[in-house]
Amino acid sequence: MIKRETVLILDFGSQYTQLIARRVREANVYCEILPCHTPWPEIEARQPKGLILSGGPQSVFSPDSPHPDPAVYDFEGPLLGICYGMQLLAFRLGGRVEPAIRREYGKAELVRTRSSCLLEGLPERMQVWMSHGDHIDAPPEGFSIVAQTANAIGAMEDSSRRRYGVQFHPEVVHTPLGKEVLRNFLFGICGCSGDWNVKSFIDESVAQIGARIGEEQALCALSGGVDSSVAALLVHRAIGDRLTCVFIDNGVLRKNEFEEVLQTFRENLHLNVIGVDASVRFLSRLSGVSDPEKKRKIIGEEFIRVFEEQARKLGEVKFLVQGTLYPDVIESVSVKGPSAVIKSHHNVGGLPEKMHLTLVEPLRELFKDEVREVGRQLGLPDLFVRRHPFPGPGLAVRIIGEVEPEGLALLRDADKIVEEEIRKAGVYDRVWQAFAVLLPVKSVGVMGDGRTYESVIAVRAVQSLDGMTADWAPLPHEVLSSISNRIVNEVRGVNRVVYDISSKPPSTIEWE
Ligand code: XMP
Repeated sequence: MIKRETVLILDFGSQYTQLIARRVREANVYCEILPCHTPWPEIEARQPKGLILSGGPQSVFSPDSPHPDPAVYDFEGPLLGICYGMQLLAFRLGGRVEPAIRREYGKAELVRTRSSCLLEGLPERMQVWMSHGDHIDAPPEGFSIVAQTANAIGAMEDSSRRRYGVQFHPEVVHTPLGKEVLRNFLFGICGCSGDWNVKSFIDESVAQIGARIGEEQALCALSGGVDSSVAALLVHRAIGDRLTCVFIDNGVLRKNEFEEVLQTFRENLHLNVIGVDASVRFLSRLSGVSDPEKKRKIIGEEFIRVFEEQARKLGEVKFLVQGTLYPDVIESVSVKGPSAVIKSHHNVGGLPEKMHLTLVEPLRELFKDEVREVGRQLGLPDLFVRRHPFPGPGLAVRIIGEVEPEGLALLRDADKIVEEEIRKAGVYDRVWQAFAVLLPVKSVGVMGDGRTYESVIAVRAVQSLDGMTADWAPLPHEVLSSISNRIVNEVRGVNRVVYDISSKPPSTIEWE
């Protein structure tokens, strides 16, 4: 196996940790995220070119605040602390950290105060994004303050020991020049060459998958979306026809999706696909359940059971391939660090404990746009590469409350209209997702001369790079207007359409 140039990120629980990884990969440097408490020998074994300590929600003063293995501070290579990571550096290396009186959250202006390796080539003043409680009052000995904001030390460094800290978040888009800060760290300071790219990822993955699966058989859980399609293509490249794909109708797919996806996979992608209509059993288990987490768990469990049954029918199958992505991993369980659990994503958190198949998740370390690029390079048709993400628990998390056949039918029709109108207006590719949500309320309307008392559909469209953060999309009024007109005219049982104007955070993209 080729030794990859690697930068490691220690995760102290920030919701932005994944974004740091993304930015590093965008700079063509391979990186991995490890839990903050990873023992030093495991870190050292990866021979990192540099270490990044992420932000985190805790205060260094709190007794249960996370700390890395102390040997991390003696790492010979460069170390960059971001936000909480910077405070750890200051705290540990003898600086003075001030406990928070109040949090600072939002845009700030960073002013450079002296020459700096980390801020090399950047303007005197730049916009940065702050999100911190504590701040540094005095840096440790040997460090100089290289930039300030109105409220805090913005950046500090000790270039002789190659220790760097930034109070702001260079990884978020609200720090427009943040990428340059990270590039300075990766190339100027760590001396990386930037040799990681999608082609090298494909070559390495195919080799790894081949070695792991050996001569065994594998099953792939297709969802119709880009993630599982790419996972299937990668595995197919590695083990050929020993891969069988299964596409399950879980009863909460979009309109005509089961038939259309089956046909495309077989005809365009030449994969060996079995279609399983399990809608009745999913819907009967969902009946009467309105709690979002319960719905997710039920669908996750049932999904795996159906796969296991298929696996048994096929005889000796040992592996189950899933298109799990990095954001799914981090938001489901705090496997990589102490980040808070937000939702149980069905591909990860909902898995039953006693699964008899071994998981193969070749995209586990990738972000959505990286997966799309892998798909393109593997020859996936554009229609699939550009497809909006669709959650594993499907329309069940877009029906607030109980999932019933009437509601499902209504939502399917409304959702189809949203997709058609967005495509017609040419904005499909410009939004991350656009869909309809059925709300559990009825409202009064008037149609013809009569009073109506019917359901409300919420339209959601967001722009995002990776689903981790998202802004509501300012769809043109004409598009909203035609969506609304068509839904109330064509979908029986709906007399009101509203547009969701919330971003993530504080909302999430799906309603449940
Ligand atoms: P949220 O709602 O967490 O969604 O802001 C972020 C992105 O993830 C998709 N999503 C899922 N994808 N299984 C998936 O494969 C799931 O259980 C799941 N839940 C949400 C969502 O559509 C959005 O793109």
